[in-house]
Amino acid sequence: MRKKLLLGNWKMNKTREETKVFALGSLALSALAELHGIDIGVAPAYLSLPVVKKYNPNLLVASQNVHYQPSGAYTGEISIAMLKEINITWAIIGHSERRTYDNETSERCNLKIKALLANEMTPVYCVGETLAQFEKNETKKVIKEQISAGFSEISSENAAKVVVAYEPVWSIGTGRNASSEIAQDVCSYIRGLLREKYGEVAEQIRILYGGSVKPENIKTYLSTADIDGALVGGASLSIESFKELINNMI
Ligand code: PGA
Repeated sequence: MRKKLLLGNWKMNKTREETKVFALGSLALSALAELHGIDIGVAPAYLSLPVVKKYNPNLLVASQNVHYQPSGAYTGEISIAMLKEINITWAIIGHSERRTYDNETSERCNLKIKALLANEMTPVYCVGETLAQFEKNETKKVIKEQISAGFSEISSENAAKVVVAYEPVWSIGTGRNASSEIAQDVCSYIRGLLREKYGEVAEQIRILYGGSVKPENIKTYLSTADIDGALVGGASLSIESFKELINNMI
């Protein structure tokens, strides 16, 4: 049985002070989520990672990115050792905004995923097609490439520890969420690809949907066979809306 997961991706939002207010406000939500067997967490900006840890140690905390090299001349980057030092054990990899603005490729994502797994950390690997690819009916072709490259040279034991997030690029921040039928179809396709490679282990891998998830629509995704949770941007920023998301997952 896969545990449900709600992960808020804060992107470049919230100062440390705003993060503190949210973290304190989320203490009761962590207790609620635990009671119902749901994992909840947020991915704040780097500077706010320790703030969440400090004010709500029960919230799962993810970095929004990480470099695959242990250290070196990579201006503006952050290493796994730096995250581990402050007890951050999760990282989002390959978010579409990083693929779009920072030339993140699936091959680079694979290096990052391998580095994280070698350090017993949890990668949340994002995949998804652009609007042009969606309209050309290329979704599954794109997803296949992204899954195949991202999971290259990863053992089945390690694959079980990866979380996959299907986020169609055309649905991120647009208010145009993919229907639960489309999302389930793609997530089931992803699980099928993982089953081809890893057999039964694929049943353990959590797959999230992301893209304009709101309290009003989260339930429809969670009631499908292959969607185990959500990666949420805008609707994860206010504590009220985050609480509604959790309530509607229960
Ligand atoms: P959104 O973002 O919920 O604001 O569409 C989702 C994401 O980028 O992960």
